[in-house]
Amino acid sequence: MKNDQSIVRKAEELRKKIHHHDYLYYVLAQPEISDEKYDSMMRELQEMEAKYPQVITPDSPTQRVGGVPTKEFPTVKHSSPMLSLSNTYSEEDIRDFDRRIRNLLPDRKYKYVCELKFDGVSLSLRYTDSILTLGATRGDGAQGDDITSNTKTIRTIPLRLEKTDSILKNCEVRGEVVMNRDDFQRMNEEREQNEEKTFANPRNSVAGTLKLQDPKIVASRPLKFFAYSLLVEDKTQQSHYENLQLLKQLGFLVDDHAKLFGNIDDVIEHWKEWESKRDTLPFDIDGIVVKIDSIEQQDKLGTIAKSPRWAIACKFASKKGETKLKVIRLQVGRTGTITPVADLEPVYIGGTTITRASLYNEDYIRNLDIRIGDTVVVERGGDVIPKVTKVVLDKRPKHTKPYTFPTTCPECGTKLVKLQDEANYFCINIECPKQIRGRIEHWAARGAMDIDGLGEAVIDQLVTGGFIRNVADIYDFHKYKDKLVMLDRWGEKSVHNLLEGIENSKQRPYHRTLFSLGIKHVGTTVAQVLADHFNDINELMQAKQEDLQTIHEIGPKIAESIFRFFKDDHNKQLLARLKAAGIRLSEEKKKSNGILAGKTFLLTGTLTNMSRDQAKEVIEELGGKVAPNISKKVNILIVGEDAGSKLDKAKKLKIEIWNEEKFFEVIEKDKKCSKTY
Ligand code: IVH
Repeated sequence: MKNDQSIVRKAEELRKKIHHHDYLYYVLAQPEISDEKYDSMMRELQEMEAKYPQVITPDSPTQRVGGVPTKEFPTVKHSSPMLSLSNTYSEEDIRDFDRRIRNLLPDRKYKYVCELKFDGVSLSLRYTDSILTLGATRGDGAQGDDITSNTKTIRTIPLRLEKTDSILKNCEVRGEVVMNRDDFQRMNEEREQNEEKTFANPRNSVAGTLKLQDPKIVASRPLKFFAYSLLVEDKTQQSHYENLQLLKQLGFLVDDHAKLFGNIDDVIEHWKEWESKRDTLPFDIDGIVVKIDSIEQQDKLGTIAKSPRWAIACKFASKKGETKLKVIRLQVGRTGTITPVADLEPVYIGGTTITRASLYNEDYIRNLDIRIGDTVVVERGGDVIPKVTKVVLDKRPKHTKPYTFPTTCPECGTKLVKLQDEANYFCINIECPKQIRGRIEHWAARGAMDIDGLGEAVIDQLVTGGFIRNVADIYDFHKYKDKLVMLDRWGEKSVHNLLEGIENSKQRPYHRTLFSLGIKHVGTTVAQVLADHFNDINELMQAKQEDLQTIHEIGPKIAESIFRFFKDDHNKQLLARLKAAGIRLSEEKKKSNGILAGKTFLLTGTLTNMSRDQAKEVIEELGGKVAPNISKKVNILIVGEDAGSKLDKAKKLKIEIWNEEKFFEVIEKDKKCSKTY
């Protein structure tokens, strides 16, 4: 065994390096090394820590997702109250604020710091001896929830403060957690596709994410933390602006647009400027915050009620517009949900032209009495689709009638039904062509089974051509190779690529398969939770509704939907076929210290003693990985009979080559040393 000290030193060195590269990547967005290099450093550290757990420290990057799911968050008292800001919307109010300051600081000069007002969720971080020891929500301002495990997953939050003088070793850092609009949109689209409840805007999705009980899921969501205040017990800090620079040096992401101003006219100009360019930022802001720069002056001004006298939030007007509603269309989702959508005359709101808005369901239309031909108010929050929030009755044309909801499916003509406790109508015809396409599109989509070459247009062609009716049919494609080649716009190469894409999809992990099945209310989050609880789909299929409901993230509605899905004979047959095709329907048994750990394999040609799937299973069981195709990532190529072009490529890339005999030799060796295999 190596000397303990040298391992501790090596682990520390790796942690420092990873920490540095995290900062370059997540905070500065200027990575200096490749993802592979980063992954390999992380793997090295993980392996070292697995082998010598005594070297793990709480600030190790491996501990970001180390927390276990909690049932409830403990309540914690804030060391000093988390205040809120008084809001203004007008120039006049801003001038009033400045007048008050002038009265309270009559003979002194003062400066203002203007920062962005992030539209997210506030968070307080406590560092003890430079190590992050607490992450807490604002709560009621006096006490909040202890969400430390979730906090640690956010990569822009340092787990340890670097380069600190002794005063800063124990401090609190407060700031806002946000999500970029495009990340939010992506996440919501996925949720929408899956008929999970979408979040109304990025702020809600941040709030929802921080409340999740499983840090693993929080880690998968793209959250960012902007630090905006630094609290130290021993107040030596003089200026808030300098504090912001200090926070930056400590490794935090800090608003780069923060600016110092000497008079209120410049502040107002700055506020107006940001109102018009707010859309140029990747995340939402709802105003700017104006703060007195001097900490001494801040203290002198103090707080009134729950807001400081020394700061004010200058908010922007919300993004609304008026336009005419032309038609109401019904969209059919892949689980049959019917969603009414308004086609609008194009209107420019907050930087984009809007032509469609969601009307949610029949009740929504009825409650607002939305009619075709109406002039409506359209609002754009951070939503995926903007919404109609009001009808302008003064502008209603004569002779309009209340909207009557259609009674049949626009795609297949089946009578629509409304289920108990559901706001939406459903098309219950599982053969509805729109639903068939929807299910296949969902299966093949990115984030699901991710089948290259199987997009909307191709699916449409193949469904129409009678090649597929369900997702299991995809894995029979190779049988129709000759017929596919003959289709319009198809050729040898495109068919080959599609088949390769299909083959690669068999590598997707179990939780992705669960998500891809498109069970109502089972999005990526619930799929991950299910995979964590039921290692094998057979266990999940046998779970009773009550068993499912004991899982924290799963309520009665989701449990019922899962239970129903697996009870259905069609679905059972489908799963049997997927299993036979080699789709992953159980958790991989990973053996991180297995004899093949850290090695990536590729199989080519026919093995005489086992199928490729079996070989793959063995490799994974021994800790190795199997790559879908040849690349530099592959360490070893296992060659069976009739090996093709992969062998030549591997030789060119100087990849190690094993024949079947060598492969068995290695496996046998492991059998001798380990009882687990
Ligand atoms: S300072 C005492 N700065 O706005 C001052 N707050 O009601 C405390 N916010 O919940 C806050 N951006 O989460 C400050 N640059 C910024 C901010 C900011 C967003 C949020 C904060 C708070 C709310 C104020």
